[in-house]
Amino acid sequence: MLASAVNPYLPELGRVVEVITETPTIKTFRIVLENTEKMQAFDFRPGQVAQLSVFGVGEATFVINSPPTCKDYLQFSVMRAGEVTQKIHQLVPGDPVGVRGPLGNGFPYEAMQAKNIIFIAGGIGMAPLRTLLLFMLENRKDYGEISLIYGARSPQDLCYRYEIPNWQKKGVDVVLTVDAEAPGWTHRVGFVPTVLSEEAPSPNNRIAIVCGPPIMIKFVLFGLRELGFEDWQIYTTLEKRMKCGIGICGRCNMGEKFVCADGPVFSMEELQGMVPEL
Ligand SMILES: Cc1cc2nc3c(=O)[nH]c(=O)nc-3n(C[C@H](O)[C@H](O)[C@H](O)COP(=O)(O)OP(=O)(O)OC[C@H]3O[C@@H](n4cnc5c(N)ncnc54)[C@H](O)[C@@H]3O)c2cc1C
Ligand code: FES
Repeated sequence: MLASAVNPYLPELGRVVEVITETPTIKTFRIVLENTEKMQAFDFRPGQVAQLSVFGVGEATFVINSPPTCKDYLQFSVMRAGEVTQKIHQLVPGDPVGVRGPLGNGFPYEAMQAKNIIFIAGGIGMAPLRTLLLFMLENRKDYGEISLIYGARSPQDLCYRYEIPNWQKKGVDVVLTVDAEAPGWTHRVGFVPTVLSEEAPSPNNRIAIVCGPPIMIKFVLFGLRELGFEDWQIYTTLEKRMKCGIGICGRCNMGEKFVCADGPVFSMEELQGMVPEL
């Protein structure tokens, strides 16, 4: 049993086994729980998060972005923002961390079966989508066409670039874009919502899964609606500062819902009237 099953605030002891530098501000950490049985038993759905802690500093919320079938490590991609994430960025293989999770609901991938899927991501927003994308590629026959529009400020700001050729080999139609021309860049230039409008994916039997900065989400939603997508066809994952992660402290509420317990994944249909800024 995970320690968190006994006391939900108690983290499991883990250790960093690998650090991958993704961008100037984002690093990916592979973490293994010290207790081998607990590592093997750690089960989660794509889209679920965990609280990562640096002992003596604090904890912060991150999406688990390894595929759920991977029992070798748990993967988190962390953007440097403030105190905790600064300390996480200083971790090296062998360093201890706490892991409290899995938390939240995850993506309803069962309801997406037999549908065409379009992932639309900006920057670090690719992290939650990576897990679901890998899950769908492992269960390829259950899904229709899979496409991805992924944008970042500059080529250096794209996460997982080294994996993209592999996704393409597995049949994902990938469109990459950056905000401005850059030396050697041969893909698209322009904001993600513009590229979405240019690509104009048909809403027919398609689900759109969107994650990125709020401004990107806002304009992608306009674009999707213009293309004829209905709110039940659009999913997003929301970020609100979290503390308990289990629906107790009230830190992450949004209307009647708690992002930690009811989300972080919501369909636009569920969000109707709840987030005016979206
Ligand atoms: C459901 C969920 C999933 C997340 N997944 C990831 C992930 O996979 N990778 C990742 O890098 N980050 C993710 N985050 C954001 C991450 O939790 C925060 O960036 C982190 O808590 C910052 O901690 P800190 O102590 O370093 O920063 P702080 O010192 O607490 O804050 C530094 C600055 O960043 C701002 N800030 C911090 N957190 C947020 C936030 N959530 N939204 C807006 N502004 C914020 C603060 O207002 C402050 O200005 C996720 C958050 C949530 C709620
Ligand atoms: S973080 Fe405590 S209620 Fe969501």
